[in-house]
Amino acid sequence: MSISLKNRSLISIYDYTPEEICHILDIAEDFEKNRLQNLLNGRVIASLFFEPSTRTRLSFETAIQLLGGNVIGFSSTAGTSLQKGESLKDTIMMVASYADLIVMRNPVDGSARYASEVSKVPIINAGDGSNQHPTQCLLDLYSIRKTQGTLENLEITMVGDLKYGRTVHSLVQAMCNFNAKFNFVSPVELKMPSTVIQYIKNAGLEYHEYTELEDVIPHSDIIYMTRVQRERFPDPLEYEKVKNSYILCNDMLENSKPNCRVLHPLPRVNEINTDVDPNPKAYYFQQAQNGLFVRQALIAAILGLK
Ligand code: CP
Repeated sequence: MSISLKNRSLISIYDYTPEEICHILDIAEDFEKNRLQNLLNGRVIASLFFEPSTRTRLSFETAIQLLGGNVIGFSSTAGTSLQKGESLKDTIMMVASYADLIVMRNPVDGSARYASEVSKVPIINAGDGSNQHPTQCLLDLYSIRKTQGTLENLEITMVGDLKYGRTVHSLVQAMCNFNAKFNFVSPVELKMPSTVIQYIKNAGLEYHEYTELEDVIPHSDIIYMTRVQRERFPDPLEYEKVKNSYILCNDMLENSKPNCRVLHPLPRVNEINTDVDPNPKAYYFQQAQNGLFVRQALIAAILGLK
């Protein structure tokens, strides 16, 4: 059966089946071999970033340009009519009349789903608050498959801000399709939300919660570090208490498995010491580069060009 993602928004990683996810990863492999493919032929894609971004916005915009498309949009709300009180609904409806596809990052949980309900063109969620970041999830899956040779039966350790970290929420949901075993390492204040844990329980999979990172390194296939996100804390003092809870240093990887890779959605602050960077197990910069191929694949598939 052929797989088509034409005109399908991507709001949550759960919107796509495991087969559809693997289809995107396969197309991304093709783009990694040949990134210059003039498929968009002047089509217009809107890049609406209501919240700061380096990797997601620039990799989407690079992807569009390498595909021969045009980008419109903004990287902050300054200079837009949102400053005059225009609603998200009106903004999306207007942009949908200019563009073939909208990529949107917004600080409000659920805003991407809402946008998809009012837009006549597909929406790609580039991160909505602390809810979901499905394109990051796709590039994480691509990076895991590329480094491990499979997505099946892996032991995934997630470290840091598991409460507000939208990337880990999406990744847990996706890895539930592939019989993963999960280790969650966080301060008590930043534990994985019960809604995400419920996905693991529903899938009948194993998970363990820890407060010490050293305990889980020797049996992890993937160590997924995350930043404690200052901007999500209602109380700055709460952030100060937990901001440096985990710092991965190179010597801590001494007893890690040969296939172990360290991932991080980036940006990092202090949670991975720079002495890890030269270690061949450090994969976070390649991971970010993989985002380009995955986003090319996603755009081409949603526009029915792959
Ligand atoms: N990983 C990620 O979303 O990075 P940016 O915030 O820089 O886009």
